[in-house]
Amino acid sequence: MTDKRTALVLGATGLVGGELVRLLNNDDAYTMITVPVRRNSDVSGEKVQQHIIDFDRMEEQGPLFKVDDVFCCLGTTMKKAGNREAFKKVDYHYVVQAAKLAKDAGASRFVVITAMMANPRSSVFYNRVKGEVEEKLQTMGFKALHIFRPSLLLGERNEQRFAEELGMKILPWLSFLMLGPARKYRPVKAEGVAIAMKTVALDNSKGIHIWESDSIIEMSKTGS
Ligand SMILES: NC(=O)c1ccc[n+]([C@@H]2O[C@H](COP(=O)([O-])OP(=O)(O)OC[C@H]3O[C@@H](n4cnc5c(N)ncnc54)[C@H](OP(=O)(O)O)[C@@H]3O)[C@@H](O)[C@H]2O)c1
Repeated sequence: MTDKRTALVLGATGLVGGELVRLLNNDDAYTMITVPVRRNSDVSGEKVQQHIIDFDRMEEQGPLFKVDDVFCCLGTTMKKAGNREAFKKVDYHYVVQAAKLAKDAGASRFVVITAMMANPRSSVFYNRVKGEVEEKLQTMGFKALHIFRPSLLLGERNEQRFAEELGMKILPWLSFLMLGPARKYRPVKAEGVAIAMKTVALDNSKGIHIWESDSIIEMSKTGS
């Protein structure tokens, strides 16, 4: 029997975040799900408490972060952000700021999505930022840090993302060819990532864990 927990979900209006809020809301282990958002949203649930905040002044929201488990599904794209600095603000600075607030408020677990090929020394800007955020989070001393590195996320979006849509059409057909080390390139359903994030949080394991797409897919088959 798991102790009753409280959670905070960043990126709750997104593809994975939305699935995660729904799963946590339906799980008896969680008594409250705090959802900071930048604008009024339709994220809801019996245990969900939405708070509209200014992400550039997140440090003013310390008390919100007094929860057991933080799930971070925040992220933007270079196209949406417009430039490197704006991209890094969301995918690095907001994530690190949230982790600091959570740690200071006593959170035990930080469960975060970065991406396949995250590497602080990568020559590819996107992979480098994802790697840098992983590196920073690993120094912060959470009882448990779970880093999720999915390949392409599969799911229905309200917006058009041409490259991702093309990948969603092609990659699932090629998945069976992705064997051995290539298994980590397998695309993964957004709901599967959310299932796996909840599973590892409730698992109570300590330390730093990195989950690639193939492990995420396996976990998503057993959890719910
Ligand atoms: N898409 C892929 O195939 C893929 C692959 C590997 C890894 N990932 C990573 O997985 C994570 C989750 O991806 P996803 O596709 O579920 O994300 P998503 O659907 O694009 O949702 C992103 C979330 O971040 C929030 N956000 C973005 N910019 C923000 C800003 N400036 N201020 C406050 N909130 C902001 C969004 O809020 P609003 O609704 O207010 O915009 C939304 O809740 C991201 O870190 C992404 O980089 C994605």
